[in-house]
Amino acid sequence: MTSHQTVRLSAALLAVLSSWTLLAASASTNVPAEDVVPANGLAHTPPMGWNSWNHFAGRITASDVREMADAMVATGMRDAGYVYVNIDDTWEGERSKTGEIQTNEKFGDMSALAAYVHARGLKLGIYSSPGAKTCAGFAGSHGHEEQDARTYAAWGVDFLKYDYCGATVLYPVTRENQEALFRRMGHALRKTGRPIVYSLSQSGEFDIWKWGPQTGANMWRTTPDISDNWASMSKRGFRQLDLTAWSGPGHWNDPDMLEIGNGGMTADEYRTQMSLWSILPAPLLAGNDLRAMDAATKEILLNHEVIAVDQDPAGTPARRLETRGEVEVLVRDMSDGSIVVGFFNRSEQPAKVDLDWRRLGDRFARGAAARDLWRHTAVAPGSAFTGSVPRHGVVLLRVTSAASPGKSG
Ligand code: GLA
Repeated sequence: MTSHQTVRLSAALLAVLSSWTLLAASASTNVPAEDVVPANGLAHTPPMGWNSWNHFAGRITASDVREMADAMVATGMRDAGYVYVNIDDTWEGERSKTGEIQTNEKFGDMSALAAYVHARGLKLGIYSSPGAKTCAGFAGSHGHEEQDARTYAAWGVDFLKYDYCGATVLYPVTRENQEALFRRMGHALRKTGRPIVYSLSQSGEFDIWKWGPQTGANMWRTTPDISDNWASMSKRGFRQLDLTAWSGPGHWNDPDMLEIGNGGMTADEYRTQMSLWSILPAPLLAGNDLRAMDAATKEILLNHEVIAVDQDPAGTPARRLETRGEVEVLVRDMSDGSIVVGFFNRSEQPAKVDLDWRRLGDRFARGAAARDLWRHTAVAPGSAFTGSVPRHGVVLLRVTSAASPGKSG
């Protein structure tokens, strides 16, 4: 090795070492604590809308968002309750000289986009991170939280997904640091005076459901990213049953967005996602291309009877009545006194199911009136339900006691 080469090698080594030291120095600093953020009073029922990530990922553009807004109106999605049009990561450009966040060339005028969305009776959502960079490497809000919140409010933004991902390189990854950074943006949003639904994104670390409300958030992801397949969706969905105590009006556990219509699952599997998210209940954020929905996708996303379960004003969580083999029987009390029963078949074979109505409580001793929420038909009268559930499928019933149908009796 020549002396020249030795010098170059030592310089390179030095550069690597000093960048490690710098990283270690910043990563060893903790985030100053922040006060608890009061609840913002939004999201009494789980938020409903659409998000760009599952289908478009980094390819989303403003013109796609406009087309999604149009499709939400044309398909009846808006009238069914899906109102948020949420732009995920990759809209961000550089900051101006005064530090204002700007959009990149795919997005242009965000106020104009918000106006377009609002003119259709919809609301606009965007995405950022407490990191200097977002998960996809675009500009994050670190050090600009209040400025960004003011910018979002001025643009007319109604929903913020705030993804921790990009902040993991800035600070030691602890609950305290995550909570402080999420609270910081919670305060900043509150200060704007604009109603902005606040949605936290991480992978369910540090039992976020236990401290999410203190950040002022309305929902928080409880799982790593969903993929468009049965194993990913069912694992995330059924996991929520252990966390329901921490989810309710104004503050929801979020098992990630819907994959319905993206093509990786069967119609039965997508019916399971819609039913499970609704009985839990969880936010319903469609993640497909709304311009190109086939009949099965529309039938699932627009099932008004299932949406009504998700949006029941009491927000009472589902509970496991029993697990029989690979069939989960979940029940949920509705505010009108009816009970929703879901038979979820997690096995590879169709399953026969039955339920004596008395299992639902004494008031069902004289029988029940039940409606099948996927077939949209009444269930045959009798003292019990019997039916069969397809592989990875669901039967979802809304059951009222025969003694006083439709009432709490
Ligand atoms: C993370 C989130 C995803 C999506 C991407 C965007 O992976 O969990 O939902 O927002 O970042 O970069």
